[in-house]
Amino acid sequence: MKTLLVVYHSMTGGTEQMAHAAADAARGEPELRVVLRRAPECRADDVLAADGYVFATPENLAAVSGLMKDFFDRTYYAALDRIAGRPYALLVCAGSDGANAVRQVDRIATGWRLARVAPATIVCTHAQTTEAILAPKTIAQADLARCREVGAALAAGLALGIY
Ligand SMILES: Cc1cc2nc3c(=O)[nH]c(=O)nc-3n(C[C@H](O)[C@H](O)[C@H](O)COP(=O)(O)O)c2cc1C
Repeated sequence: MKTLLVVYHSMTGGTEQMAHAAADAARGEPELRVVLRRAPECRADDVLAADGYVFATPENLAAVSGLMKDFFDRTYYAALDRIAGRPYALLVCAGSDGANAVRQVDRIATGWRLARVAPATIVCTHAQTTEAILAPKTIAQADLARCREVGAALAAGLALGIY
């Protein structure tokens, strides 16, 4: 049975909801094991054991969030040359942008020689003030549906052996 790893960090809950949506949809695929990990608890062993990946990160300070970067820093060389060709998808929760977080994760994934199999999904919360940015987030159902689609598509492709 193949394994999909969903790894995420979230400070105010938006990315967490997106990652759970993708993982829940992927769990609809009976021929697939889905592992959902918070970034600080995700180790190189988890990366090596998976056949495909969903990376989910907030954009903070025009970058992938610190704890997602820490996850990549801790696992990058242990996995280099050992996971080439595997598929990944990317979910980014941002206030208003998200493009730099996409660029950064794509560069890391390119180093790993992973294959992105869906366009990056950016969800903007439109938080502008300090209060709004620090407040807990509720991601709209339509945006969670986009995340579910990503999880379901990656799961189906893995289970069918397309990837
Ligand atoms: C320290 C900090 C920096 C941020 N920088 C950006 C940014 O550069 N671009 C952007 O679009 N949103 C930015 N945001 C907004 C977050 O991306 C947004 O609040 C998102 O919901 C965070 O995801 P989370 O709810 O999973 O923590 C920032 C938020 C914080 C707390």
